[in-house]
Amino acid sequence: MSCPLILHLQDSLEYWAYFRFCHHNRPFGKLAAKRTQQRLSLISRHLDQRLPLPELNTPFSTERNSLAPDDLEYKPIDRSVPSSIPPSPTTPSSSSPPPKMSSQAPHNTLLIPGPIEFDDAVLQSMSHYAESHVAPGFVKTFGETLSLVRKLFQSSNPAAQPFVISGSGTLGWDVVASNLIEKGENALVLHTGYFADSFANCIETYGAHATQLKAPIGERPSFEEIEQALKAKPYKIITITHVDTSTGVLSDIKRVAEIVRRVSPETLVVVDGVCSVGCEEIAFDEWDLDVVLTASQKAIGCPPGLSILMLSGRALETFKARKTPPASYYASIGNWLPIMQNYENFKPSYFATPPTQLVHALHTTLSQITARPITERYAIHRHASDRVKAAVAELGLKQVAATPENQAHAMTAIWLPEGLAPPDVLPGLLKRGVIFAAGLHKEVATKYIRFGHMGVSVTDPARSDIDKAIAALKEALTEAKQAKGL
Ligand SMILES: Cc1ncc(COP(=O)(O)O)c(C=O)c1O
Repeated sequence: MSCPLILHLQDSLEYWAYFRFCHHNRPFGKLAAKRTQQRLSLISRHLDQRLPLPELNTPFSTERNSLAPDDLEYKPIDRSVPSSIPPSPTTPSSSSPPPKMSSQAPHNTLLIPGPIEFDDAVLQSMSHYAESHVAPGFVKTFGETLSLVRKLFQSSNPAAQPFVISGSGTLGWDVVASNLIEKGENALVLHTGYFADSFANCIETYGAHATQLKAPIGERPSFEEIEQALKAKPYKIITITHVDTSTGVLSDIKRVAEIVRRVSPETLVVVDGVCSVGCEEIAFDEWDLDVVLTASQKAIGCPPGLSILMLSGRALETFKARKTPPASYYASIGNWLPIMQNYENFKPSYFATPPTQLVHALHTTLSQITARPITERYAIHRHASDRVKAAVAELGLKQVAATPENQAHAMTAIWLPEGLAPPDVLPGLLKRGVIFAAGLHKEVATKYIRFGHMGVSVTDPARSDIDKAIAALKEALTEAKQAKGL
């Protein structure tokens, strides 16, 4: 006998109860039939709770404040903070936990300014079994991850919205350029290195005009210059690279935001925080920022592949007031906003498949980072940076970032001695198990190298990455000079 319920009941005890009812109700007699009917009624009530399945939300059906019914038990993975998270830098190191064995294969220490070395727990959380991106367990992980992003940005304003999208940091530029500015409108791009050129390029790709305010290499535009530029014509957005990874120049985004609000309050303040989020201070609400875009692979300490953004209510209103549709499909805020809102409210949602394993890794690293006061993390990075910069000075070398207030705390760009180029020094470092990056600023790329000191390499007291790198740099330089007869 065929029965429509069979499809739903297959492989379950309920199926067998129903099967027996259909085929054998006569031998059981009336009593047996009654019992089976009661059982069936129970089954159908059970099925009623499950069916219809929670609505799959599309960008067109956002129900921010309701929870999807879900009677599957959520079993969170143990993401307790590992004992390797160090005490505050002021605490004597004698109280540090004993060194632990890493579960990673032996490898050279990656000290470029991103991607960086990873914590074992972050890597392990990526080897998560396959799961649906709309299953309750993953929905919960993603929802929590978005809340952790708010914490990372010190933001509690409900009008602001975090976004986590599959892609790299560059995708953040596309999100800004295709949603927050329209064809023919103006962007003021503060230039402190290579990444401002690229951001300006991206803005122009979508038809807006990018005016670059350039500083000499190693410096940043002055506050007076920024104020004058803002007074000269209306700008829809101003972009600031918080730390330009090509030069190690740090910008004062708090001061720039203050100037913008005073001089040109309508202008959106857009921060490229790819090389700063997770190591340099950012107070999203307090500093009245509109966009901070970043990526997973630098001071956040997660493998590459996630574009992470925080948008203010003002930025979202600007998007909603567009005269023309956004110029991108995948990067459209209109497509992503309801998805992020749904996940944050633990509702399954779909626009494009999220990278589930990477989201687990991000959840783990953000849980670790936010388990301690974020100010402590900034202090640890400042402390490590001071050590590196003092060692560089001791070697008689200068930094590309010219003055202490312009210098980033998660990387150092180091001018090489006259007569040496990156290929003379980097192999010597590699021989000693350390990987630095070559120069990137196109005008001077052959004259300097870059040392990244962020994430676990500075926060995990069980690692000696920084000491090892300083020693390797000293030896590799001596060797390179000897080889060149300098
Ligand atoms: C400051 C800055 N902005 C943007 C990017 C682009 O990010 P991604 O390479 O992840 O696309 C980078 C990459 O290093 C960067 O350092």
